[in-house]
Amino acid sequence: MREGDRLRNAPDVQRYLVEGEPGYAGPWMLFTKPEWDEWGRLAERLRHTGPPVVLGKYAEGFTVGEARKYHEATYSIGMGSGRRFVRQVDLARRRRILDLGGGSGCFCIAACQAHPHLSAVVFDLPPVAEVAREFIASHGLSGRITAAAGNFTADPLPPGADVVIMASNLPQYSRDIIQPVIRKAWLALEAGGEMHLIGEMLDAERTGPADPALWGLAEAVYGSTGIAHSVTECVGYLEAAGFTGVTAHEFIPGVLIRVTGTKPA
Ligand SMILES: C[S@@+](CC[C@H](N)C(=O)[O-])C[C@H]1O[C@@H](n2cnc3c(N)ncnc32)[C@H](O)[C@@H]1O
Repeated sequence: MREGDRLRNAPDVQRYLVEGEPGYAGPWMLFTKPEWDEWGRLAERLRHTGPPVVLGKYAEGFTVGEARKYHEATYSIGMGSGRRFVRQVDLARRRRILDLGGGSGCFCIAACQAHPHLSAVVFDLPPVAEVAREFIASHGLSGRITAAAGNFTADPLPPGADVVIMASNLPQYSRDIIQPVIRKAWLALEAGGEMHLIGEMLDAERTGPADPALWGLAEAVYGSTGIAHSVTECVGYLEAAGFTGVTAHEFIPGVLIRVTGTKPA
């Protein structure tokens, strides 16, 4: 807001913009700033025909320090997403969550805070699992949430969960990588369990919204095999894996959609 010749935070955004406020989202807002110059070379990047990088920015050499910085950013908005998930999804009769690429553990933390009977496992790459343990401990939940190190495209998934979440890593992967991961999640789930694929999805016509399209394009900047997936494709991944009753729900309008399905009992 303009105040004379100065600018001042409007009251409704103050809590996101002031460092130290519980809702401060600065780390997320500045998250992609280091790639600014690369976007200026987009045409060159799109013409690049070298071998694609499968794990994008998480490739070999991703350190614990880098993972901590990365997840300070995702955590700064992720706890809000976790609380929204808990409001949208009835977990009253569920026992154990497996969060694939769970990052800071924000979804598991919010779910276990709301439901004292739940336990959870955050499954993420080794440096991230280490950082997830720090976030989990900061909420006093180390007794109920563990972090397991692994690569969900290559390693077996921990058994015993009746809820699988996979949030915000969709555009990092191509169709032929995502489909087997969803099938693996189906195999790891207990019978009667449910999966929630939460991601930046294009609409059925692939004409928008802009945010998921840009995350897909960003994968070209990173030189990865990732793409923007449409909601129709995501419903198809769950159905092809064996899930029934697959439905799509708006999660964060214009940004994230939640596609969910059940493994028959
Ligand atoms: C953008 S973050 C999202 C974190 C969390 N789900 C959230 O919504 O805040 C994507 C996460 O997926 C993880 N990830 C990506 N590829 C993975 C793989 N192949 N195996 C395990 N974790 C992976 C990354 O390490 C990162 O923590």
